[in-house]
Amino acid sequence: MAIHNKSHNNSGLMAMNRMNKDNMKHKSSVDFVIPDYTNCILLNRDCLEILSMLPDDSINLILIDPPYNLDLASWDTYENYMDWAKMWLNEAYRVLSPKGNMIIFGGTQFQDVRSGDLIEIIHYCRHYTKWRLVNTIIWYYKNGMSAHRYFANRHEEIIWLTKTDKYYFDLDSVRVPYSPKELELALKDKRLVPENVKKGKNPTNVWEIGRLNGNSLERVGHPTQKPLEIIRRLIRALSYPDSIVLDFFSGSGTTGRVCIEEKRNCILCDKDPESQQYFKKHIANMQNTNLAQPFSFKNNLENFFEDITKKQCEKSAIIYPERLML
Ligand SMILES: C[S@@+](CC[C@H](N)C(=O)[O-])C[C@H]1O[C@@H](n2cnc3c(N)ncnc32)[C@H](O)[C@@H]1O
Repeated sequence: MAIHNKSHNNSGLMAMNRMNKDNMKHKSSVDFVIPDYTNCILLNRDCLEILSMLPDDSINLILIDPPYNLDLASWDTYENYMDWAKMWLNEAYRVLSPKGNMIIFGGTQFQDVRSGDLIEIIHYCRHYTKWRLVNTIIWYYKNGMSAHRYFANRHEEIIWLTKTDKYYFDLDSVRVPYSPKELELALKDKRLVPENVKKGKNPTNVWEIGRLNGNSLERVGHPTQKPLEIIRRLIRALSYPDSIVLDFFSGSGTTGRVCIEEKRNCILCDKDPESQQYFKKHIANMQNTNLAQPFSFKNNLENFFEDITKKQCEKSAIIYPERLML
């Protein structure tokens, strides 16, 4: 697994800028078609069972927010957290496509071998697998619990893993606009490419996004529901329209809602049947906004994949220009 300090290495960026200027395709580029509707499925099964049913290389983005066995009531579920996590990490590697991406939410909450955390996951991926770590994203929030015996926690981490260096990344879709003053200064900065500056800033790997408060309108009742904004940034940057996104610890189905809104197909899996009710609320909330998009809710994986293949064949004549990844 290769990790280097990218803040001191600009050759990759310069090569990308040259390729873009010469209108050349990067090895990570993807041609895609905007679908008329997307497919969505929510399966109430164990994640390992669902993973075992998925073909090799079939998923474009895996986005998960796993349980870390921190809840006292479920501690005895796994004797050793990493023994269990290794199984889904290996299966996720198998089902992810070569240009695909995997996102794992977490933190540094390790207590003993029955609990797990992102450091344990990174250690395993780095020393025992072929997963590559592209970024560690710090999710910084201002709202959180207070503390008296330590500094109150105000961040969680997110890791971005890939199988190859051909991973899909659409930076343009998540650029942050400059303020008029910043833009004026940036356009004068000789180190920056003006065409890129005009598109907005790289959001960096520190994201300030508020956690959901108890009274947030987004809430659907799940105790660890993630904000739409953070999931949207990940889905826009790391997948493309009509691609297939998998969340095998889907909870309320936040990933599913964003996938529908962003025209991605989505496989959700959560062993808790209550997740169906949460997801219904997400869909009802979505229907009250102008982000709602048409979708088809499937009840088995065979239908899900068959329908995607069918509609992609029908549309294959219209290929939209690829998204350029700078
Ligand atoms: C942290 S929550 C995910 C919350 C989600 N990101 C959201 O925005 O609502 C983790 C979920 O994993 C589910 N889960 C735990 N173990 C599982 C397993 N073995 N297979 C499938 N789902 C599981 C739990 O029921 C829980 O809803």
